[in-house]
Amino acid sequence: MLNIVVCVSGGGTNLQAVMDAIETGKITDTRIKRVISNNRNAYALTRAAQKQIDAVCVSPRDFETREQFHEALLQAVDEVKPDLVVLAGFLVVIPQEMIRRYRNRIINIHPSLIPSFCGTGYYGLKVHEAALARGVKVTGATVHFVDEGTDTGPILLQKAVEVQEGDTPKILQQRVMEQAEWLILPQAIDMIAKGEVKIGEGA
Ligand code: GRF
Repeated sequence: MLNIVVCVSGGGTNLQAVMDAIETGKITDTRIKRVISNNRNAYALTRAAQKQIDAVCVSPRDFETREQFHEALLQAVDEVKPDLVVLAGFLVVIPQEMIRRYRNRIINIHPSLIPSFCGTGYYGLKVHEAALARGVKVTGATVHFVDEGTDTGPILLQKAVEVQEGDTPKILQQRVMEQAEWLILPQAIDMIAKGEVKIGEGA
């Protein structure tokens, strides 16, 4: 059994894709032990509660210092002893101590074909605004292992998505989620659950 923690910040559509894939068997032998959000208003928390999955909010607003927030975040993860930490739209910079403690056991979904449109400042709609501004004809999504950098760890899976005439950032974001993110994140977890990817190596 692969025990996972899913970290979220927003709508939780990637979390939903993972929960659905576990239910339908697209992801084998995996259990979400806890969903952790840094945002108490994240609809992702509601999605988890609907499936009776343990869901906690660890918000930086509730702590005096960043260090105290980091400690609380790490404790919330450690408590459930996950084999894998999945960042699904999680907008928090992962503490270095967590990277060390879960070396090669943290994966992230990024809404572009890394190394394009990634790194500091590239998240959410901003990624798609940059892709449209550059005029790329193809974009997509990437699942990668998380290391000390921002979107710099070994790439596990990628899926390309066509940019269409008249796309707005919102329309493109939706297409990238539907045609790429919601497919490759579950696929990556299933590969790890089946031992097809030695945790810590790219594809
Ligand atoms: C989306 O833009 C996704 O590309 C990125 O985080 C955002 C929110 O995702 N990974 P979700 O709906 O909260 O999963």
